[in-house]
Amino acid sequence: MAPFRIRTFGDPVLRRRAEEVTEIDGRVAHLAEEMHATLKEAHGLGLAAPQVGVGRRLFVYEIGESGPRTMINPVIDEADGEWEHEEGCLSVPGLYFRINRPKHVHIKGLDLDGNEVSVEADELEATLYQHELDHLDGRLLLELLDADQRKTAMRELRRRSEGEAGPGGQPPS
Ligand code: NI
Repeated sequence: MAPFRIRTFGDPVLRRRAEEVTEIDGRVAHLAEEMHATLKEAHGLGLAAPQVGVGRRLFVYEIGESGPRTMINPVIDEADGEWEHEEGCLSVPGLYFRINRPKHVHIKGLDLDGNEVSVEADELEATLYQHELDHLDGRLLLELLDADQRKTAMRELRRRSEGEAGPGGQPPS
């Protein structure tokens, strides 16, 4: 079983700006390790700390042949171009939206050894970084939707939460 339950839409931790990691110590390494296990089990590309209820600025990811990676206190200092991608989020399970973002980014951050990492990325990888950085700023992809997409998404999410309660609502037990 994955060490963490992934927080989903409606959980307030997803709306808060996460705080800088001030010290990269064993606890951060342990957190990253458990996040990687959670990501793997969820078959996702990336997972940000707020998605497991931790308000710290780090995310884990695994894309291509790179193996599991961790990015701490990331900053995007360059973004250009345009790229549209069918994007999903582990915190909004099962829903995908066409979202336009800059095609190319330059992201900087720290790895688990405290070394500076500087990556130039395009397309899917660039989208992943922007998506995870949004999580650290308390933003879900729902906020990037146009009015029509948003209406459809909210209807679907409402339908699901009503579905979970069962018809007529479930008595508390
Ligand atoms: Ni996400």
